[in-house]
Amino acid sequence: MNLDPASTRIRRMTAADLGQVMELAAKVPEAPHWPEPAYRMALDSGSNVRRVALVADDGPLAGIFGFAIASLLPPQAELETVAVAPEHWRQGTGRRLFDALATELRAQNASVVRLEVRVSNHAAIAFYRSLGFVRAGLRSRYYADPIEDALQMKLRLA
Ligand SMILES: CC(C)(COP(=O)(O)OP(=O)(O)OC[C@H]1O[C@@H](n2cnc3c(N)ncnc32)[C@H](O)[C@@H]1OP(=O)(O)O)[C@@H](O)C(=O)NCCC(=O)NCCS
Repeated sequence: MNLDPASTRIRRMTAADLGQVMELAAKVPEAPHWPEPAYRMALDSGSNVRRVALVADDGPLAGIFGFAIASLLPPQAELETVAVAPEHWRQGTGRRLFDALATELRAQNASVVRLEVRVSNHAAIAFYRSLGFVRAGLRSRYYADPIEDALQMKLRLA
């Protein structure tokens, strides 16, 4: 199903979105699977760690079909999760989500975004490269279940 870019929007995630966000995460095995309290914490402005959480929303058609969350300790930020519903891959949603996140992170004085990704997640690595991320290192056996190395990547925000 193709989305109409005119009717989709990128906006802040709210508590009312969490059901749909968790449903979407469950459809995307490559995304980290957070328990609901972790998402709630990402929305809590009083939490120790500052986070920016965004969703891609197409209310009438698809509802929430993408989300991205970054944590922030200026000048550093970490992209913790990004996922798009598989039926909408390669339609520019991931890029739109990241562009909006980067704008918000810059506004909050972040100048570098880092992330970790499974070395076997070729689609995500290609996606991050397309955004300008470059290799920053490798963490051996960083992931469990299955055990796997993490590729570390970073992007300097212009
Ligand atoms: C990674 C992910 C978020 C990308 O979302 P998306 O909406 O499909 O990405 P976009 O359409 O914005 O792609 C932007 C560019 O990234 C690159 N890209 C994205 N997916 C790719 C793939 N499967 N293979 C190669 N390049 C890819 C391309 O250069 C693409 O531009 P193009 O389509 O004009 O060639 C999506 O594949 C996803 O949800 N994956 C599962 C979850 C995941 O792995 N998250 C990362 C770990 S937390």
